[in-house]
Amino acid sequence: MAKILAIGIATLDIINTVESYPDEDSEQRALSQHQTRGGNATNTLTVLSQLGHHCTWAGVLIDEPDSQVIQHDLRSHHIDFTACKRLAHGKMPTSYITLNQQTGSRTIVHHRDCPEFSFEDFSKIDLTKFDWVHFEGRNVAETQLMLLHLKKYHPQLPCSLEIEKPRPDIELLFELPTVLLFSQHYAQARGFADAISLLSSLNSTIIASCAWGKLGAWAINQHQEVFHSPAFPPEQIIDTLGAGDTFNAGLIHSLVNNSELQFALTYACRFAGHKCGQVGFNHLFQTFEA
Ligand code: FRU
Repeated sequence: MAKILAIGIATLDIINTVESYPDEDSEQRALSQHQTRGGNATNTLTVLSQLGHHCTWAGVLIDEPDSQVIQHDLRSHHIDFTACKRLAHGKMPTSYITLNQQTGSRTIVHHRDCPEFSFEDFSKIDLTKFDWVHFEGRNVAETQLMLLHLKKYHPQLPCSLEIEKPRPDIELLFELPTVLLFSQHYAQARGFADAISLLSSLNSTIIASCAWGKLGAWAINQHQEVFHSPAFPPEQIIDTLGAGDTFNAGLIHSLVNNSELQFALTYACRFAGHKCGQVGFNHLFQTFEA
């Protein structure tokens, strides 16, 4: 099993499950509420850890009451967070999430007011300990420095970069990782009608994937060969929160184990589909295997 480092965020997710999505300026009672740790990088690590990998998260951890929920969850998933930057004051990022029971859709209002994990923080990590490094595509200038550092000093160490949101200058990062993981949201925001149009527009010899909801996902390899997997929706869609993060974990897991890209893509789609059939990530791999 691999040693995987992920750079990105952890959040407090406050999740209200509702019978149907509310109208603007209306009032309704939530069916239930729960709080949990969220954030793309840590969600992905939670799944990778269940798949048997040794996972380390590097991000910003603030010493405030909400971070107890986050640290407890990280511990329960055996995720090492000693590489984090610790701050004595401030507030962890918080997401207010409306989970629609009818469709499993998750609508997120995200609040964030804290510093990003910097290149200086990253440079303190002993990268020789890892087999794979995964980045959230955020904080472009600092992430660029981290990716350049990896390319220069650890060229054999594979790394993946998630491109979920269209951030200014994020395209500057595309040439740097081993694998690019695009979302449908990014593709559409940049005007691409489908995943293939985005993947074939990449001017590089890189592995890249792009998930596309009900249509499944596409990927392209270093030789510009295109692969597709259908989606594998569960009988009932219960909770889509973190389905993309689960897809990324499935793909990284397969690639770090040297699987073929077609296998990796199909595995990631199956795993993400399975996630949509249950609330949260707990015991995801066990129920998937069963
Ligand atoms: C899901 C998620 C949530 C978090 C939000 C942050 O992908 O990571 O857990 O609140 O996105 O953008």
